[in-house]
Amino acid sequence: MRTLPKDFIMGGATAAYQAEGATKLDGKGLVAWDTWLEEKGRYTAEPASDFYHQYPVDLKLCRDFKIDSLRMSIAWSRIFPNGFGEINQAGVDYYHRVFSECKKQGVIPFVTIHHFDTPKTLFDNGDFLNRENVEHFVNYAKFCFEEFKEVHYWSTFNEIYPVATNQYLTGIFPPEIKFDLKKVVTCLHNMMWAHARAVNIFKDGNYKGEIGVVHSLEPKYPYSEDEKDVHAAAKDDALSIAFLLDATYKGRYSEKTMTLVNEILAANNTSIEFEESDFVAMEKAATQTDFLGINNYQSHWVQNYDGESEIGFNGTGEKGTSYYRIKGIGERVQREDIPKNDWDWAIYPEGLFDLLVRIKEDYPNYGKIYITENGLGFKDDFNDGVIIDDARIEYLRGNFNSISKAVDAGVMVKGYFIWSLMDVFSWANGYNKRYGLFYVDFKTQKRYPKESAYWYKFVSETKVII
Ligand code: BG6
Repeated sequence: MRTLPKDFIMGGATAAYQAEGATKLDGKGLVAWDTWLEEKGRYTAEPASDFYHQYPVDLKLCRDFKIDSLRMSIAWSRIFPNGFGEINQAGVDYYHRVFSECKKQGVIPFVTIHHFDTPKTLFDNGDFLNRENVEHFVNYAKFCFEEFKEVHYWSTFNEIYPVATNQYLTGIFPPEIKFDLKKVVTCLHNMMWAHARAVNIFKDGNYKGEIGVVHSLEPKYPYSEDEKDVHAAAKDDALSIAFLLDATYKGRYSEKTMTLVNEILAANNTSIEFEESDFVAMEKAATQTDFLGINNYQSHWVQNYDGESEIGFNGTGEKGTSYYRIKGIGERVQREDIPKNDWDWAIYPEGLFDLLVRIKEDYPNYGKIYITENGLGFKDDFNDGVIIDDARIEYLRGNFNSISKAVDAGVMVKGYFIWSLMDVFSWANGYNKRYGLFYVDFKTQKRYPKESAYWYKFVSETKVII
């Protein structure tokens, strides 16, 4: 049986908008999601898991189940309802209450500054396509560093690539723009520049603690050995992985990455230029970023594709309804021999091992790594308060074994946060795609530990992967 290091942090992950509920309470400003979900007549983030009120219950569960750390985010619009300017003291006080409860229960807060929830006023004004909003983000981050001295671990952003692509490529997030590769790359770059500036403020201000960024990194493998498939996978990798890792660890994009990204843009009849001065901040930040957070759920196999872009999104859990073909990049295809969950996400723990080793090899100056999200979305069966989720345990076991092997190979992985601590609201999938260690009855807000919660507790206590 494999093991994890004795000081390995075992955490649970959440995000403000997906957990808190209380979307309009105590002076919170709107986010684009509030109106968009309502307009579409879809599920909304009310009540979500009511973490706004239930946080003492959830933190007690952390303590009881040996969960060392809670990954959570601050809702920007609870602090600055319009994204900048007037401060909402009730929002500030709320997070102080959460952090003080963390302390009481012995749970380390691992805090993300931005997790998909730009205040609506700024979102409607271009979100991160608009460089003015970068200034607002940086000011908000600085406010957090000054105010919340209880926090040791800060992540600037959650998942820059999904922000850019869900908003401007697949259009599954508001503002539902599709196939605009120039907006995708602009958003990626502006967010990496914003990240860098926040890191530099944190370090120049000598704030105590550690700061990093959380990237969604899903390995891209060629579907076959055909050189066209190899090239398609390389392009998909360049845009979704190398672009962000280059920016994080080198502070600029390598020539190899930019050649592939430019090829994608040219195929979509567009191009990009960056402001050279952005790289000054980015290069400085690259030397002082303390950790990388990795969100990894799946891997992709990519083949050559010469047609127009088209997307099918599985937001219902009906197997086999997703497809992804992007002009200038390639087509992500399912491999029949690899199991998938009901949302067509390939279950391939080897991908996490390959990814970790690749980071160590490609970026020798890489620092600590935390797996900040990993988990299995599942329609859990609830039987009188008992939830047997063997499939989730098997998924976790596979991924923990990959982490353990990567640690043996010398990769500095320091901790793991299961997505999610308790069941939460899913942005594009509503409430029936559950990930939690704790089942949430969204009507009563009662929590029930799943079988996986007991498994997780054992691994956390013993560091033995059973
Ligand atoms: C990550 C996000 O993309 O994946 C989370 O950081 C999200 O916020 C998680 O919930 C799982 O995605 P989904 O679509 O299955 O809820």
